[in-house]
Amino acid sequence: MVAIKLTDDIYWVGANVHTEDLFEGIWPIPNGVALNSYVIKGEKIAIIELVREWGGAALTLLKNLDSISIKLSDIDYIILNHLEPDHTGFTYLVNSLSPNTQIISTQKGVELVKAFYQIENNLNAVKSGDSIDLGNKKKIEFVEIPNVHWPETMVTYEKNSGILFSGDAFGAFGVHQGCIFEDETSDESKPYWEEEMLRYYANIISTFSSNVLSAIKKLSELKINMIAPSHGLVWRSSPEVIVKKYKRFSNYNKDYAEPAICVVWGSMYGNTEVMLNSVLRGIGKSGIPMKVHRLPNEDPSYALSDAYKSAGLIIGAPTYEYGMFPPMKYFMELLKKKRILYKKVLYFGSYGWSGGAQKDFEKLTENMHWDVLKPLTFNGYPTIEQLEKGEKMAMEMAQQVKDIPSKINDEDY
Ligand code: FEO
Repeated sequence: MVAIKLTDDIYWVGANVHTEDLFEGIWPIPNGVALNSYVIKGEKIAIIELVREWGGAALTLLKNLDSISIKLSDIDYIILNHLEPDHTGFTYLVNSLSPNTQIISTQKGVELVKAFYQIENNLNAVKSGDSIDLGNKKKIEFVEIPNVHWPETMVTYEKNSGILFSGDAFGAFGVHQGCIFEDETSDESKPYWEEEMLRYYANIISTFSSNVLSAIKKLSELKINMIAPSHGLVWRSSPEVIVKKYKRFSNYNKDYAEPAICVVWGSMYGNTEVMLNSVLRGIGKSGIPMKVHRLPNEDPSYALSDAYKSAGLIIGAPTYEYGMFPPMKYFMELLKKKRILYKKVLYFGSYGWSGGAQKDFEKLTENMHWDVLKPLTFNGYPTIEQLEKGEKMAMEMAQQVKDIPSKINDEDY
């Protein structure tokens, strides 16, 4: 790719990364990820976000800069909205190759530059309200939005164009599919972006939903014409759409989410799977939207995303060595860490010589604000009566989920 113009003298210079690596060492990104980096050319030149050396991203960044006749040594300011290394891994090399370039971040960000990259020179801390006049009608201002999702996070706003460089906020997994702007995205690509936005939010941001809401409130004071995040699409024509989406996502763990059911299951020798089929039949009869994920065959990243979005959650897993089936235990620990709160929940599972999974399940549901229905456990292979009961319970639960009055109003989001 070459640099792509956002508006006069402001360019996207990032890279699309295809990799087998896991994002944050945890989350699969089979569709890759865009590391968005931006250049503002005033009389001084600023680059907002770098990349890390990942799938050729550092070379791509240099080539993109070259396409608009910028060398590293021409850059006056590196703006690091937060310090996660996907956007900052290249900092040490840039500092070495361009020793006069000033590094700008919050005070906590500056401390992390020292810690991560052993850089002690050219560090400048800024806070909300501070600005840098780049000349030629380009002026950038900074607004701190702590804990979206790292504590040192800020955003950068270019006053003349009204472009908000929002860092990870309003981002998504997935590489660009031929265009970086939402208004050039084909209808066929929309489900891809919807899924990658939600999965990114549930995996990376959901723990910090209340901070997202505070940030959205704070940023509403700015006149925003375009949102340019550090991942995903640039929202050129309809920045309000991604703000509404994020607002909706950030309310999914404040109350019951969408009227849908996410079923997450695992089975050792098929006994729990037999009950799964009855449960699915029960949900199917209700007509409610349903997503089904099997662990550990599928990465929990995907189940986490659908569990986050759905008001109903059904967990099916057997007892394994006196406790919960380990892949499900890990998944439930993720639900807790990511604050996947306020669900109507049903657990079912088989046990052999003794139970134990249910005890772990109960421990893992503590402080989750879940409405947990009576668990359905059975010894070995389920009986006809138990299967009928499973179908009936699932159907009743689906109806209850349908009837939950959602506080997420479409007009507001
Ligand atoms: Fe994309 Fe928090 O780094």
